[in-house]
Amino acid sequence: MTRPLLIAPSILAANFAKLGQEVADVTEAGADWIHLDVMDGHFVPNISYGPAVIKALRPHTKAVFDCHLMISPADPYLEAFADAGCDVITVHAEAGPHLHRSLQTIRSLGKKAGVSINPATPVSVLETVLDDLDLILIMSVNPGFGGQKFIPYAVDKIAQAHALIGNRPINLEVDGGITVETAPLATKAGANVLVAGSAIFKGEGVDDYRKTVDSLKKAAEGGRR
Ligand code: DX5
Ligand code: ZN
Repeated sequence: MTRPLLIAPSILAANFAKLGQEVADVTEAGADWIHLDVMDGHFVPNISYGPAVIKALRPHTKAVFDCHLMISPADPYLEAFADAGCDVITVHAEAGPHLHRSLQTIRSLGKKAGVSINPATPVSVLETVLDDLDLILIMSVNPGFGGQKFIPYAVDKIAQAHALIGNRPINLEVDGGITVETAPLATKAGANVLVAGSAIFKGEGVDDYRKTVDSLKKAAEGGRR
């Protein structure tokens, strides 16, 4: 099953002083999803933003809000992120003992459910929850910061997850260190959603973002099978 290639800019690398404008600009530039990195200073060694900021951004674009929760515990906050307007809510497999419950809760809120795994976590943890998720997010850096270097063995994990997914309707997303060099490696292994922060927001404004989104799409398409 070939799923559409989607580019999901992470606004972690955007200008926080004008986030509404940034979200509108990057959507106009051709972004498919908006990737929202939520960090709690506990599960990851950094703090970003929460549901109030996401809610304020919601009127600025019609693009899918792809929420990546790097928080532990996640369950007490799932409803707040659903109410804020997130469409896909992804929790980390490492963030709590009851992954299945978290996924069921996300779906019961009417949202798509995702699971992310850190570089040190094997793909096999996903085997038992395949029927309960809509998206798998393979981290290609240790979560917490933008601008890190792509970890090469993430490519093997993407290929393993791709094989595990088979014909199921599950998006396969990769996050961290995605550039025109690494994007084709990820799509060749089977990823169809590419998160990119610093590679997209290195310029400023619609014209710059269109160039970076287009170049990533072109590079990613080149690697597809
Ligand atoms: C890392 C975040 C990523 C990050 C990606 O913890 O989950 O989404 O913003 O940034 P780049 O593309 O700069 O690696
Ligand atoms: Zn992310």
